Amino acid sequence: MEKYIFVFAWNPLLSLAEAVSYFRTRNIKFKLEEYISNTAIFSFEKSINQSEVISWLGGTLKIGELILTAKQADLVEELDKITAYSDADKFKYGISMFGAHGDVAVFELLRQFFKKRFKEERTKAQYKGFSAARKKLQHALAEQQKLDLEFLAVLDGEDVHFGKVLAASELDERRKRDKKRPVQRPSLSISPRLSEILINLSGAQKGQHLLDPFCGIGTILSEALVKRINITGVDIDRNVVSGAKGNLKWLVKQYNLSPKLIKQLVQGDTKQLGKLVAENSIDAVATEPDLGPVLRKLPMIREAQRTISYVEDLYLKTLKEVKKALRCGGKIAITAPRIKAQGGKLSIDMKKIARRAGLVVVHPLEGVLEAKMPFVDARRRHKVEREIWILEKLLQPRTSSGNKTR
Ligand SMILES: C[S@@+](CC[C@H](N)C(=O)[O-])C[C@H]1O[C@@H](n2cnc3c(N)ncnc32)[C@H](O)[C@@H]1O
Repeated sequence: MEKYIFVFAWNPLLSLAEAVSYFRTRNIKFKLEEYISNTAIFSFEKSINQSEVISWLGGTLKIGELILTAKQADLVEELDKITAYSDADKFKYGISMFGAHGDVAVFELLRQFFKKRFKEERTKAQYKGFSAARKKLQHALAEQQKLDLEFLAVLDGEDVHFGKVLAASELDERRKRDKKRPVQRPSLSISPRLSEILINLSGAQKGQHLLDPFCGIGTILSEALVKRINITGVDIDRNVVSGAKGNLKWLVKQYNLSPKLIKQLVQGDTKQLGKLVAENSIDAVATEPDLGPVLRKLPMIREAQRTISYVEDLYLKTLKEVKKALRCGGKIAITAPRIKAQGGKLSIDMKKIARRAGLVVVHPLEGVLEAKMPFVDARRRHKVEREIWILEKLLQPRTSSGNKTR
């Protein structure tokens, strides 16, 4: 049994759901051992290809191997039993702490242990990290310091889960895809990380066909393209579609991708998607539709209600069409607005909309962890928060003759 520590970038529950969807889509047998602050410990029947896994996951910053779990009181003794921590003679190392932030005692224990250990081994090990006075998470600094070796310690009550990083998210590449693309539209664009999360929640895999029916300047499509997923994008705004074309062309060049992966990129109204995309031709859908107007201040309840009914109508009409384009068993990962209005928050009734569109709501963490749906992506500065839903087109019901129509 192989055990790994996953360190999440932000929104741990959503990032956990993404990782679980990724494993399930690929029939990777796993068990969630622990879920503590922004980390999860998984065990797998076979070892995983950490670099491949992390290249897919938008919500995971680091994957480490779990070396040991020990009571705080026994930690040094257990650490001492490990024969080697590094093969190199000269390296920079750091220690990242998770769980109970600011447990300086355990941090100091680890720092002193490794200082002594590496000195005894006569290696030129250079500690690069926070001093004990700094109580915050440390992995951001580890990035800046370009560490050769990064230890992870997750505090879990009296226990400490201890490991070392095997693979880290390619932050520079992700930043480049976001900031260097030729066409930008910050006010309406989704982040590349959330795009990757939606792609994984939709179950899309390399070689399959993903649709974004509200593609904007193509952020979700871009993230799918670098994963070698075939893509189709639709947007009602002609200028935006030409922006998406520009961005995808740039991406194809940057990453030496096959332009054949871009199946269709068209201007059109998703409420009439049937005219643009063939039935049952799509394996997965990841999208952020029109969430209503960009708000500068909190709206009155009445105004928010008007936006909600406009959005509900758009989602219902669109989802009915998207369902036709999607193959049976295909999933839709979709965001929806949760509007902060003066006097409360308003959301669309997604369960009702899904039912009326003939889709079912699925919970990606079912059987793994009790958690409420939908997931929410909310920052304090957001006036419109995002709900994240996963819907599925089930296998078709039996016909009157009793045969399955699939
Ligand atoms: C929130 S933005 C999507 C942003 C996109 N994910 C990106 O990163 O650029 C929603 C998009 O839906 C488009 N849209 C609104 N109504 C539409 C409709 N009926 N059919 C197709 N596109 C529509 C808008 O033009 C807008 O670009």
